[in-house]
Amino acid sequence: MNLSAVIFDLDGVIVSTDEYHYQAWKQISDQENINFDRKINERLRGVSRMESLEIILSHSDKNYSENEKSQLAQRKNEIYCELLNKLSPNDILPGVISLLLGLIARNIKVAIGSSSKNTPFILDQIGLAKNFDAIADGNSIKSSKPDPEVFLLAAKMLGVKPEECAVIEDAKAGIDAAKTAGMMAVGVGSAANCVNADMKLNDLTELDIEQLLEVTKIRS
Ligand code: G6P
Ligand code: MG
Repeated sequence: MNLSAVIFDLDGVIVSTDEYHYQAWKQISDQENINFDRKINERLRGVSRMESLEIILSHSDKNYSENEKSQLAQRKNEIYCELLNKLSPNDILPGVISLLLGLIARNIKVAIGSSSKNTPFILDQIGLAKNFDAIADGNSIKSSKPDPEVFLLAAKMLGVKPEECAVIEDAKAGIDAAKTAGMMAVGVGSAANCVNADMKLNDLTELDIEQLLEVTKIRS
């Protein structure tokens, strides 16, 4: 099978908003006296806002009402969006732009597949709002990763088959979602140690497009 499209996760792949998510959740957990550290934070990668909150609250003895939960999630998002205001094109992670240019030059479509409802704002802040052929995000899905919905939606929007797609992810939940969708999975950063990733990289400067095309062919 030839590679027709590459679907990029956003947080932790295009831009390091994963650090801002951590800082915002840390403020909320500290206010609530809940134990939260970077190890617990790893479990929030790729997971929706409300599911992330549930993981954090599972470390508390207190029972939170639905109303309290939605207030906490809203407060976290306000802190997070305040941090996002600082984002600029300088924050695009190394290797992203040259990879996008290389894919576009080879007529390979590019899309975003993110669980984040803040995707449009983030893409706007970093100046990439108009550079993708499709954007599937937290505003258009019911189930977040590891459910494959967001990646299948991106493939549908692009008009390509799932098996013609490669996904680039920094989250285990995202690698699992890509594999369930029948797509090739490239693990970067935290996801580089996922056993089910088809390619494993420290960051996107290490991604060789010719190798990506080769691995996609061999897989089918
Ligand atoms: C991404 C991040 C998650 C985050 C989710 C929802 O997938 O990796 O850590 O919880 O988006 O983000 P949002 O911006 O909608 O709160
Ligand atoms: Mg991510």
